[in-house]
Amino acid sequence: MNQVPRHIAIIMDGNGRWAKKRFLPRVAGHVKGVSALKKIVNHCNTLGVKYLTVFAFGRENWNRPQGEVSFLMRLMIKRLDKELAELHQKNARIRFIGDRSRVSHEFISSITNAENLTQFNTGLNFNICVDYSGQYDIIQAINRIIKEHPAESITEETFANYLLTAGQPNPELVIRSSGESRISNFMLWQLAYSELYFSTVFWPDFTPQELDHAIAWYNNRERRFGKTSEQL
Ligand code: FPP
Repeated sequence: MNQVPRHIAIIMDGNGRWAKKRFLPRVAGHVKGVSALKKIVNHCNTLGVKYLTVFAFGRENWNRPQGEVSFLMRLMIKRLDKELAELHQKNARIRFIGDRSRVSHEFISSITNAENLTQFNTGLNFNICVDYSGQYDIIQAINRIIKEHPAESITEETFANYLLTAGQPNPELVIRSSGESRISNFMLWQLAYSELYFSTVFWPDFTPQELDHAIAWYNNRERRFGKTSEQL
């Protein structure tokens, strides 16, 4: 019986290439990508995963063509609003992880509504990273620490409490789809000991069965945290 990781993080990549392969506009890949995500969220819920974090829009993604950026933002708002009641009914807790200062008011209002409605839920913690980057996360933590602890030396534990994921465990398993094997500025601090699973499948084709493969792979890893095999 496979042990299910407590926290799974996913870099959902390959939407554009999925669409291109089918002679469709890139945005069609994002639409299909959201449907794939819905199935993965449901599957995580069924499996009893406690935390699922998805990289939906990286800080560097603002550099994409304006039309694609605004499409993606509207798509996320629309789907979040549409799925909210069901996610709430399934006891999921939704959180936004990222810089709240640059996304639109509509986006903030949609995500705040989702966060408020689900704040006391105790099932799957579903983190949506938008305008997020690992370097941004570290810098915003440092800036807050400087204000609150001037001239003090701080520990790793204190530092982690200032990250946008404060209070949440680090991911044990990170999945990146589409054959790329990069971290791309995702959760740089939090991934220190994560197992990294790279799938060749484009995100819109990523199924619950693919997730099961990744979890089975994770179960065959020996997580040593610096120790030797004999010490485990
Ligand atoms: C990467 O593919 C995918 C994205 C930049 C968008 C991912 C976002 C979603 C699936 C929406 C999530 C929705 C909610 C409500 C959380 P790419 O465009 O970089 O693909 P490419 O590398 O093939 O060009």
